[in-house]
Amino acid sequence: MKALILVGGFGTRLRPLTLSVPKPLVEFANKPMILHQIEALKAVGVTEVVLAINYQPEVMLNFLKEFETKLGIKITCSQETEPLGTAGPLALARDKLVDDSGEPFFVLNSDVISDYPFKEMIEFHKSHGGEASLMVTKVDEPSKYGVVVTEESTGQVERFVEKPKLFVGNKINAGIYLLDPSILDRIQLRPTSIEKEIFPKIAAEKKLYAMVLPGFWMDIGQPRDYITGLRLYLDSLKKKSSPKLASGSHIVGNVLVDETATIGEGCLIGPDVAIGPGCVIESGVRLSRCTVMRGVRVKKHACISSSIIGWHSTVGQWARVENMTILGEDVHVCDEIYSNGGVVLPHKEIKSSILKPEIVM
Ligand code: GDD
Ligand code: MG
Repeated sequence: MKALILVGGFGTRLRPLTLSVPKPLVEFANKPMILHQIEALKAVGVTEVVLAINYQPEVMLNFLKEFETKLGIKITCSQETEPLGTAGPLALARDKLVDDSGEPFFVLNSDVISDYPFKEMIEFHKSHGGEASLMVTKVDEPSKYGVVVTEESTGQVERFVEKPKLFVGNKINAGIYLLDPSILDRIQLRPTSIEKEIFPKIAAEKKLYAMVLPGFWMDIGQPRDYITGLRLYLDSLKKKSSPKLASGSHIVGNVLVDETATIGEGCLIGPDVAIGPGCVIESGVRLSRCTVMRGVRVKKHACISSSIIGWHSTVGQWARVENMTILGEDVHVCDEIYSNGGVVLPHKEIKSSILKPEIVM
């Protein structure tokens, strides 16, 4: 089986992290976002993943070369010269997606995190005999997603409305599809939205089916959702009794600590924290609901909550970093500084406190 991941876009909503690496390579729970997806695809027998990309393909490919051999899966790029939206890239990659087997292929939005129940999806797709399957999930705020109205007993999609202004329903498109190759006959090689132009048509022909995604789901393309997504992901690891979760008297709730990170005396870490490779957490530090990327140093008695600390940054002694503070790569927060929602671009030194949420250039 094959899969295509929609990678395009500049990831502007995840700046300043995406100023250093393309969004799919930003680590989530100590692993680049896209690797969570590729590993799950590999586990259900996908042999080739096509990355539909419209910028910086070299960075992505160089990085993923290493994993091609490690994971034993073929990873190729299909590069657009202009953004083709969410359907156009399928037409561009047509030759890579279709082979003699006539098997359906997966399509994923690159910024969604879940347990990826691909196996269940394959079963579901076989069971209904339609042309396309998608996963749906319930959310509180459906208007920022594609809303899907289904016939309750069969899952047949009656309506697909992208970003509705009026309430249509609370089940939304999770950005995970399994499509028959025949769908490619519906898509032309031009900028096209699969959500607005293709799915509504297939639904009208009663050939689009939706299954409710078991387990958690989150679009982690924005800092607040990224932090919520980490909580859900770690909670799911906990339910599976994953040995990856840290334990000890200094740990509260669900925490991931890379084996190369060090944690000093008298720290209190958790809940919902990920500490990346090579991090040094000095003594007496308090961390909760945050991600600390590779190579960060957090000095004595600093306190970080609901924030993301970018690669190789430092947080000074007694500093307090909170409320959706996002530090880009190589940012240095001086001792005793307070940051309340500061969004700090790479390579900055923060010498005075940030009292209200703002961007620091
Ligand atoms: N290759 C390529 N080219 N990829 C693109 C392009 C493009 O021109 N435009 C967007 N993408 C990719 C994005 O990188 C992302 O992985 C995916 O397509 C969806 O785009 P987003 O910009 O993240 O859309 P969204 O989050 O507003 O809405 C989509 O996702 C929701 C779930 O998170 C839609 O599919 C909604 O229906 C869905 O509910
Ligand atoms: Mg998105």
